[in-house]
Amino acid sequence: MNAGERLTLRAGSRIANAQMAAKAAAIILAATASGFAPAGARAQETGGDLYETNCAACHGAAGEGNAALQAPVLAGQGEAYLARQMANFASGKRRADDNPTAAGMIFILEEMAQSDAQVIAKYLSSLAPPSIEQDRAAASFKGRGLYSGCISCHGAKGQGNEALGAPRLSAQYGWYVEGQIKAFKNGARGFHADDVYGKQMKAMADTVRSDEDAALIVDYLATLEP
Ligand code: HEC
Ligand code: HEC
Repeated sequence: MNAGERLTLRAGSRIANAQMAAKAAAIILAATASGFAPAGARAQETGGDLYETNCAACHGAAGEGNAALQAPVLAGQGEAYLARQMANFASGKRRADDNPTAAGMIFILEEMAQSDAQVIAKYLSSLAPPSIEQDRAAASFKGRGLYSGCISCHGAKGQGNEALGAPRLSAQYGWYVEGQIKAFKNGARGFHADDVYGKQMKAMADTVRSDEDAALIVDYLATLEP
């Protein structure tokens, strides 16, 4: 190979390198535009995006719940409470034995990064609680009296109290609330030694003497505005 030939070769490889660099830049641009962002940028996926992909099919586009799937309202619930429940499902501290639909969710939550769960909880708590169809005519004085034992933590309007770890009970489906009182009583919730909040509520659920009393409380809750 003479000097002239070597020069041509080097120039050629320089051109090839430049072409490769341009191609790489184009690939990165295309990837970013199509939403495939490099690691690090993934944290920018919003709570709304994560919710829509993983949760909306059961809990509704705006977190309004879905009676047919036995999925409760999530919109407007407390952030810390939501995050804790997601963690409890994932770790097995909360079971949903009587609700087969929940198995699909528990699988998703087991696989989900804690940081993503936090972002979703924050998003959901920022939404307004929905106004759902409830039978308000069934409320009774007896139900109101029974609920008075719950006010210290859940609030006179059932609005919840984040500082006490107590969730909102108003603007929630009655069948769901009733089911959860049972779940605390039968040990599907509040059984785990480390579940401090769940154990507090289990003690309270045990003071609800019968299914009839639980139903009366729920009928009263239906009249409370969030
Ligand atoms: C396959 C359907 C399904 C999917 C998908 C699903 N869920 Fe659920 N979710 C349920 C059901 C059913 C329950 C009620 C469980 C029970 O009865 O204890 C529930 C309960 C919950 C609760 C408890 C609410 C409360 O008031 O204690 C939270 C929080 C929750 N889901 C969050 C989520 C989030 C966040 C996602 C997405 C990452 C999600 N779920 C995906 C079906 C689903
Ligand atoms: C000492 C405070 C306290 C009192 C009083 C109390 N609760 Fe609770 N309740 C809690 C806490 C804390 C939680 C959340 C438990 C957890 O994180 O799993 C809870 C959760 C619940 C839930 C689950 C809601 C959901 O979205 O899944 C229901 C239903 C409930 N309480 C009903 C009642 C009723 C009915 C009464 C009155 C008979 C009552 N509570 C009294 C503290 C209390």
